[in-house]
Amino acid sequence: MGRLSDRVIIVTGGASGLGEGIVRRAASEGGRVIIADLHGEKAEALAADLRAEGQEAMGVAVDVAERAQVIAMVEAVTGRFGGVDVLFNNAGFNKPVPFMDVDETNFNGIMRVNAFGVLVGMQEVGRHMKERGRGGKIINTASIAGRQGYAEFAPYCASKAAVISLTQAAAREFAPHKITVNGIAPGVVVTPLWDGLERDMIEKGVIREMGEFINSFSAGILMGRPATPADLAGIATFLASADSDYMTGQIIMCDGGMVLV
Ligand SMILES: NC(=O)c1ccc[n+]([C@@H]2O[C@H](COP(=O)([O-])OP(=O)(O)OC[C@H]3O[C@@H](n4cnc5c(N)ncnc54)[C@H](O)[C@@H]3O)[C@@H](O)[C@H]2O)c1
Repeated sequence: MGRLSDRVIIVTGGASGLGEGIVRRAASEGGRVIIADLHGEKAEALAADLRAEGQEAMGVAVDVAERAQVIAMVEAVTGRFGGVDVLFNNAGFNKPVPFMDVDETNFNGIMRVNAFGVLVGMQEVGRHMKERGRGGKIINTASIAGRQGYAEFAPYCASKAAVISLTQAAAREFAPHKITVNGIAPGVVVTPLWDGLERDMIEKGVIREMGEFINSFSAGILMGRPATPADLAGIATFLASADSDYMTGQIIMCDGGMVLV
C-alpha cells in the first residue's frame, strides 16, 4: 500500500518537468493519476508509459485558463474514476522581460495561466469536491519568485505572489468542507522551463551559452546545486497524503536554502 493508494490525483502541467516528477511519484505511491497538460499528446504518452508499468493513468489536453476546458476535464475524470481527491495546480511558464518593457500583453499573458489558471482549477475542482462531500486536497505550485522580486521576471513574480494569496483565500473558502489548500515554492529546478529561459537570455544578449543563466542564478543555493523534480516529489506526496490533513493555507519553501524568508 502506498501513501496515496487509490487517490484520484490531477496534475496540471503534468507532462513535463516538476509536474512529471509529481505524476511519477504519485503513481508509484498508488495514486490514480491524471496528466492534464496543454500538450495532450505528451500527457497521453506519459499516461501510456505508466499504464505499461501497471499503474492507473490518463492523459487530458487542457488549457488551465479556459474554464470550459477545465470543467470538461473534471467531467471526464469523474466519469472515469468517480471523483477527484487531489488537485495539483502546477501548470505555469516564465518569459523574461526587462522591467521597463512590461506591458499589458506580456503581463496579462503570464497572469492568465499562472494565476487565473490556478484560480479556475481551484474553483472547478473545489466545486466538485464540495458537492461530493468527501474533502480533498489542493496543492499549488508557487515559487521563490512569489516571495522575492526579480527585475527580469516581474510578471512571473507577480503571478507567483498571486498564487500564494489565492492559496490562502481558498484555504479559508474550503476549510468547512475539509478541503485543504497548500502550496510548494521551489527555487531553481532543472526542467525544460530553463531551456526556454536560456534561449531567451541568449537572444537578449544577456548570456552567451546555454546553461550560463541557470548556473549564475543557482550560485547562492546553500545546498550547492539546483533541484531536480525528484527533490520536490516527497513534499508533493506529503501534501497529497493524510499526513498533512491538519495543515492548510501554507506554502512550503523547497529551494535548497536559496531565499531565507
Ligand atoms: N523550474 C523551476 O525552476 C521552477 C521554479 C519554481 C516554480 N516553478 C513552477 O513549476 C511549475 C512547473 O514548471 P516546470 O519547470 O516543470 O516547467 P515545464 O515547462 O517543464 O513544464 C510546464 C508544463 O506546463 C504545461 N502548461 C503550460 N501552460 C499551460 C496551460 N495553459 N495549461 C495547461 N498546461 C500548461 C506545459 O505544457 C508543460 O508541460 C510552473 O508553475 C513553474 O512556474 C518552476
